[in-house]
Amino acid sequence: MTTFAPFSDWLAGQEAPEALKTVVAAVAEECVAISRVVSLGALAGALGVAGSVNVQDEEQKKLDVMTNDMLTDRLKGCAAVAAVGSEEMDLIEPTGRQGGYLVTFDPLDGSSNIDINAPVGTIFSILPAPEGRAPAEADFLIGGRHQVSAGYAVYGAQTMLVLTINEGVTGFTLDDQGQWRLTHPDIRVPADTKEFAINMSNRRHWAEPVRRYIDAALAGKTGPRAKDFNMRWVAAMVADVHRILMRGGVFLYPWDQREPDRPGKLRLLYEGAPMALLIERAGGKATTDGTQPILDVVPTRLHDRVAVALGSANEVDAIAAA
Ligand code: AHG
Ligand code: MN
Ligand code: MN
Ligand code: MN
Repeated sequence: MTTFAPFSDWLAGQEAPEALKTVVAAVAEECVAISRVVSLGALAGALGVAGSVNVQDEEQKKLDVMTNDMLTDRLKGCAAVAAVGSEEMDLIEPTGRQGGYLVTFDPLDGSSNIDINAPVGTIFSILPAPEGRAPAEADFLIGGRHQVSAGYAVYGAQTMLVLTINEGVTGFTLDDQGQWRLTHPDIRVPADTKEFAINMSNRRHWAEPVRRYIDAALAGKTGPRAKDFNMRWVAAMVADVHRILMRGGVFLYPWDQREPDRPGKLRLLYEGAPMALLIERAGGKATTDGTQPILDVVPTRLHDRVAVALGSANEVDAIAAA
């Protein structure tokens, strides 16, 4: 019988500062607790809306608020964390400690899937904190290349944790004892694909190059791309990116003309940047427009948005060429 190493053994074997490992372990453990609440749904009083609006002007679901509180409390109790930032909180929350790490997160990605029992997830990103002084929001605005770790948990058919600390991207599956076990030791994104993910209902609002790229794919074998494409849209970035890490594909959330002043819908610090680090380290490309790496975008505010075009390397090049 195959045995799957416990997450703690894997983590102990990683070359990384011990303090960083304690932060990654805290996130991993809290995601187990979140997976329980998510799976209990109505039984945990976790469905429906909270009756509040977040800084992004989105109506918060009860689970957005519950999972945000869980992760915030957990990380504020972690000795190596200096401050946290979240999709669901207007401002950063310092812990009162100095040095160590800053953590940003999307506590529940894909909120609109909760009430229909479709996949949701948690996304996290870890940055170094300044030494010798209290952290400020500006310390979070250093760009995705500075991430020392990033990853996500996806609460789907299986509950999985996918993360990167050093070079590679590693996947773990939650067992029936509530333990993460190493099941996907070296995740790689295939360079070629025939699958794209985009919210097609927004087609009329996109910029011309995005429309050209998708229209060429839709034309199939007899079109300019000379192959038949398949489409998927889970409406949770975490699950769409997970699919790309498992079998390739591209995921786009482009700028659209309804909100001309924002680059796209998704948020840079706790959606775009951590996913970009995973995709790049798995051999894919993560860009804003087919060309500019998301990891090179330096934010000016905590909740900055970013356009996203990521996935299989050759297909991202095709987006750039459209
Ligand atoms: P969140 O639930 O954290 O606000 O994020 C939702 C995001 C992302 O996960 C997903 O890809 C996208 O919104 C779905 O957008 P559509 O509503 O356009 O499908
Ligand atoms: Mn949201
Ligand atoms: Mn999200
Ligand atoms: Mn969210």
